[in-house]
Amino acid sequence: MVDEPDGEPSLTIAVLGGTGKLGSALAERLVRAGHTVVIGSRDAARARHGAAVIGERVGRDAGERIGGADNAVAAAGAEVIVLTVPFEAQEATLRGIADVVDTRVVISTAVPVRFEQESGPVHVDVAEGSASLQVAKLLPGARVVSALQTVSSATLARTERAVDADIIVTGDDPAAKLVAARLLAALPGIRVIDGGPLRNARYVEQLTVLLLSINMGARRSTGIRITNLPDDRTLMVVPSS
Ligand SMILES: NC(=O)c1ccc[n+]([C@@H]2O[C@H](COP(=O)([O-])OP(=O)(O)OC[C@H]3O[C@@H](n4cnc5c(N)ncnc54)[C@H](OP(=O)(O)O)[C@@H]3O)[C@@H](O)[C@H]2O)c1
Repeated sequence: MVDEPDGEPSLTIAVLGGTGKLGSALAERLVRAGHTVVIGSRDAARARHGAAVIGERVGRDAGERIGGADNAVAAAGAEVIVLTVPFEAQEATLRGIADVVDTRVVISTAVPVRFEQESGPVHVDVAEGSASLQVAKLLPGARVVSALQTVSSATLARTERAVDADIIVTGDDPAAKLVAARLLAALPGIRVIDGGPLRNARYVEQLTVLLLSINMGARRSTGIRITNLPDDRTLMVVPSS
């Protein structure tokens, strides 16, 4: 971890599934925010290609802070791991990295959802209670934080614009939650809100299914804002320790 001049630490972050829609947009924003990012993929060459595309977009200096590797190598070299694979792929992805994760901060973003022809998005019940609780079960030592579900990849991908959305972060380890909150709150236009323990992640995941349904009708990528909130529920205002 390297301290930036403004006091916010610059982290090495593995974005597993960072070749996809959410992961690539998030990776670009994290690099632009000063972090080092390793794109993870099932295929190291695909990860390197994805990293090179983002490197081109961010320019030469920032582009030196992004690389690609297979998921396990990316996870092993990172301080923070962000999971951006579809829920159906989560279990296999986690089994592939379980030996290297140790007590790292792992950010779960998955929304268990299936799309039906007639009715649109439908929540998929998860035996553990939520996608995030499944991460905690399969990575027993990891400090799991749930975040980002309600922000669309299309919104994140417009990196020239501020995001203009709240993100609800849940988790059982306050220090891990703060690490995740700080790195997300540093992305322009994002306010991070403390959503309580990891068991509350299920409500954020289910709310996202509703947003996906609204998106279909509105033909827009919507997000959320929580109103009338005192500052002590927003994690972004917590000063650096
Ligand atoms: N898209 C959004 O707007 C959004 C917003 C909030 C949260 N999320 C959550 O973020 C996660 C990623 O969403 P996405 O839309 O970015 O997904 P995606 O683009 O469809 O896939 C992301 C990456 O996951 C890997 N992957 C895909 N299928 C896989 C499989 N069967 N087994 C193993 N790996 C597989 C692929 O990477 P490799 O082939 O390189 O391994 C792919 O590039 C999901 O859990 C979603 O619920 C998405």
